[in-house]
Amino acid sequence: MARAPAFLALMCLVVSSLAGGAEAKNNVSVYMLKRGNFSVKMTNWGATIMSIVVPNSKGHLADVVLGKDTLNEYFNDGCYFGPLTGRVGQRIARGRFVLDGKVYHTYVNDGRNTIHGGRRGFSKVVWTVKEYVAGGSSPYITLFYRSFDGEEGFPGDLDVYATYQLTGPYALSIRTNATAVNRATPVNLLQHLYLNLGGEGSGDVLGHKLRLAASRYTPLDDELLPSSGRVAPVAGTSYDFRSPTPIGARVRRVSGGRGLVGYDTNYVIDGEGMRKFAAVWDDASGRGVELWANQPAMQLYTGNGLNDTVRGKGGKVYGRYGGFCLETQGYPDAVNHPEFPSQTLRPGQVYKHDMLYKFYF
Ligand SMILES: *[C@@H]1O[C@H](CO)[C@@H](O)[C@H](O)[C@H]1NC(C)=O
Ligand SMILES: *[C@@H]1O[C@H](CO)[C@@H](O)[C@H](O)[C@H]1NC(C)=O
Ligand SMILES: *[C@@H]1O[C@H](CO)[C@@H](O)[C@H](O)[C@H]1NC(C)=O
Ligand SMILES: *[C@@H]1O[C@H](CO)[C@@H](O)[C@H](O)[C@H]1NC(C)=O
Repeated sequence: MARAPAFLALMCLVVSSLAGGAEAKNNVSVYMLKRGNFSVKMTNWGATIMSIVVPNSKGHLADVVLGKDTLNEYFNDGCYFGPLTGRVGQRIARGRFVLDGKVYHTYVNDGRNTIHGGRRGFSKVVWTVKEYVAGGSSPYITLFYRSFDGEEGFPGDLDVYATYQLTGPYALSIRTNATAVNRATPVNLLQHLYLNLGGEGSGDVLGHKLRLAASRYTPLDDELLPSSGRVAPVAGTSYDFRSPTPIGARVRRVSGGRGLVGYDTNYVIDGEGMRKFAAVWDDASGRGVELWANQPAMQLYTGNGLNDTVRGKGGKVYGRYGGFCLETQGYPDAVNHPEFPSQTLRPGQVYKHDMLYKFYF
């Protein structure tokens, strides 16, 4: 395997301009959800969150989501700014797994591994808008995607719904479900939202104080795979965020894989069911967010692959650590690790992944 592509893949991926198909792109639009001065902008391209505008304690509104200005830029985005990635959002080692005695090969796009569902996954495709209510007390949009048998190498047809709804003051709920139509398949949806509570493009997030409900994590190797299958305590390591700690306090001591520095870490979240995963507070802007979810784990990514050549809204520079991602999920490469909680979905079963972002100030 050549080293160069591995390094490229680690940053933002190079995107084929044909992804999604030129025809289908005619059906892509922008959808606003608005409740008072809290608003969320979505597109049915990749079920992508384009912006979240929220006040702070000083009475200022800001867009806290890293992203792009135009749909055209989202078509070509390789940094995964805001989409729902799948069918398996996390890595699959060597793009290979065995299910019910059959070997499957998924599209390899991260060195020699698969990430974010492959070449286009669920993030470079058009989702169907099933319902859309822009205003009122709980505006929402429901998106649907039918993934076909063999898409990116995955087995069987899969029906996926995702509902984005403003369920309370400054609360964004994301409820997803998936059903395997005819064959068993791994499923692990992952919303790849980059946040900066000071406002997108306002600098780095190293001063944000992070608290995680995680006393364990899965050590990852240099390809960011959990190859040892180990689950280790965070106590006494740079991964311990059980009490509020600035993201930057120990970020330079942490390997982000393949030469990058920073968190790209899978945490095992304590407890089960819908529960608080994380709280982040930024003193400088007077803005915070809590994230609740019902999954076993969460990837903390601190934007290690961003750099001064990555441009966002209004041409702003999104440098290294310019945003953080809290990706609620199943364990990485679970399909190749029977010792991890299973992410295999069989016909007749329903995968449900709920997330709730609660902003405060
Ligand atoms: C900056 O990021 C871009 C996009 O990920 C990547 O192509 C480029 O190689 C990076 N540059 C440096 C100097 O790391
Ligand atoms: C656009 O969406 C409509 C309704 O979902 C569908 O019938 C039509 O085929 C789509 N057109 C393209 C070009 O994808
Ligand atoms: C946002 O709306 C709330 C509730 O109406 C109000 O109290 C607050 O002052 C507003 N903040 C800004 C920055 O507009
Ligand atoms: C999945 O979500 C859609 C949209 O909310 C809903 O209509 C459907 O009943 C859900 N499916 C299951 C199996 O829960």
